[in-house]
Amino acid sequence: MSKNQERVVMITGGNGGIGFATVQKLVGKGYRVILASRNQETSKKAIERIRNTNSDAKIETIPLDLASFESIRACASAFQAKGYPLHLLINNAGQMFDSKEGRFTTDGFEMTFGVNHLGHFLLTNLLIDNLKASAPARVITVSSSLHNPELKQGPPPDFDYDNLKAEKYFDAQVFYKNSKLANMWFAYELNRLLAGTGVTSNAVCPGFVPAAIGARRKSPFERFFYSQFLARMPFARSLDEASDSYIVAATKPKFASVGGKFIVDGEEKKSSEESYNEEKAQILWEKSLGWCGLGAE
Ligand SMILES: NC(=O)c1ccc[n+]([C@@H]2O[C@H](COP(=O)([O-])OP(=O)(O)OC[C@H]3O[C@@H](n4cnc5c(N)ncnc54)[C@H](OP(=O)(O)O)[C@@H]3O)[C@@H](O)[C@H]2O)c1
Repeated sequence: MSKNQERVVMITGGNGGIGFATVQKLVGKGYRVILASRNQETSKKAIERIRNTNSDAKIETIPLDLASFESIRACASAFQAKGYPLHLLINNAGQMFDSKEGRFTTDGFEMTFGVNHLGHFLLTNLLIDNLKASAPARVITVSSSLHNPELKQGPPPDFDYDNLKAEKYFDAQVFYKNSKLANMWFAYELNRLLAGTGVTSNAVCPGFVPAAIGARRKSPFERFFYSQFLARMPFARSLDEASDSYIVAATKPKFASVGGKFIVDGEEKKSSEESYNEEKAQILWEKSLGWCGLGAE
């Protein structure tokens, strides 16, 4: 691939889990990969692992803590200083930050909502001109089928603007689902706003991936349970299968011009009724602009 044809991707949370599996595939396809991650030591190890099997890999790292607006701004500036185009942004980082009391970002937002939605909202907006200038370009936001309020799996999302900083109560599952619903509204609203720019925005659900969840568990029993038991269940997806959905969104020719889709198991699926609510998506967008200091709330 010549320098002019080189495709550049930034991925958040690409050091491990599904993100790393995706990075391996993108490097293999000749992409220049920018790992935007909060742990530079882990990034260096990830880069070493990639280079061990592909010495020509074009891969580098930029610090990014999605729990800090300052760090997100510094990451966008550091990327822009490199002078690269940006053809693909994968908003992958995300976790359910579980604790009894709730944890908060540097800027005071509940951690799961702050990292999974607000952090990516700010990062994407700061890089939007780079994406437009590099069109055709794509944004992929990793959500989850758990965003669906109709899904009878634990408590449903409860998108209450008076509780986004856990003012009334904190429930880790509810906040995770809220953040994933926010990812859906964000991905769809971004696609509407990008109409005619040559940049598309789609959402992906990797499915239930015990290998990724288990790797983060401290207890050896839990690690075993996830990697050896749950991973064998028919409803589980491997890292390879999960990252294939990202690759479909990133490389399938159709999604260069078609956005506003939800990709699960490598195929377009309908997302929840709630996720298609344009009015709610616009309200979240406006509020997020204000929270991130990008415009009026
Ligand atoms: N695994 C599943 O079953 C499943 C199901 C549905 C959706 N998803 C979604 O898929 C995506 C990837 O999940 P995964 O399972 O591969 O998880 P993972 O292995 O735990 O990876 C999460 C990544 O997010 C990064 N991260 C967390 N907080 C961050 C912060 N403040 N700033 C920057 N990066 C941060 C982590 O960085 P560190 O390496 O520094 O910790 C890690 O690289 C997530 O959005 C998740 O919600 C996963």
